[in-house]
Amino acid sequence: MTADKPQNAFRDYDAAAPHVAAFYRENHARQTLAFVRAKKAEYLPLRRRRLGVWEAVAALEQVVDQSDPDIDLSQLDHALQTSEALRRHGASRARVLTGFVHDLGKVLCLFGEPQWAVVGDTFPVGCAFSDRIVHHAFFAENPETHVAEYSTPLGIYTEGCGLDAVHLSWGHDEYLYHVLRPHLPEESLYVIRYHSFYAAHREGAYEHLLDARDRRLMAEVRAFNPYDLYSKSVERPDWAALRPWYEELVAEFLPPVLQW
Ligand SMILES: [Fe+2]
Ligand SMILES: [Fe+2]
Repeated sequence: MTADKPQNAFRDYDAAAPHVAAFYRENHARQTLAFVRAKKAEYLPLRRRRLGVWEAVAALEQVVDQSDPDIDLSQLDHALQTSEALRRHGASRARVLTGFVHDLGKVLCLFGEPQWAVVGDTFPVGCAFSDRIVHHAFFAENPETHVAEYSTPLGIYTEGCGLDAVHLSWGHDEYLYHVLRPHLPEESLYVIRYHSFYAAHREGAYEHLLDARDRRLMAEVRAFNPYDLYSKSVERPDWAALRPWYEELVAEFLPPVLQW
């Protein structure tokens, strides 16, 4: 895998630029169950736009992820570095495609959503915020921290209910999951939906909410994560040379136009 810095230097939030902490302050203060429900009602009918993958890819070129402590890359470079790293390691075509499209939900930024409602780590709302979430202290400013019903480990959920029944903070993961749901295999959809849920897939938090299916599929997210993270490099992929291969890959799995 190409990486310009050692693996333990990635996701170093202490050394990250001040704007990353500012991002998480706002994200943790404002992602509430009420907010997530409102955004799902607004976006998940998928009646906003009809957009092909290639239009979405082109649109994403305007988005810079403010939550990323690692490297300033264009979204296309990040997509290709992830998918090319998977391809080099012999991943299936479905997994390479997953790597290529996994962040396309960030088009939410272009629909006018602020960054704190699009990017960054995700976490359950409607129950206690785990201290294993990055910048946990900022949850003191979240109004739902002080709602008794939401302040226990289970909150509004039941033991082992499965993540499908749990509301995660709103962002690009959940959105893209719904856009691609009719088209991709279960493992790909799970990776897309939970790739930013670091508290669970990296820190092992929220075990009490998972069911057997989550435990099986979380292994897919863990296997995917190094490609998302450690493929980040300042070396830019040769898009012009790669494009024909990716056009064929996208056409194999996805229709020319998607409902967003
Ligand atoms: Fe992402
Ligand atoms: Fe990513």
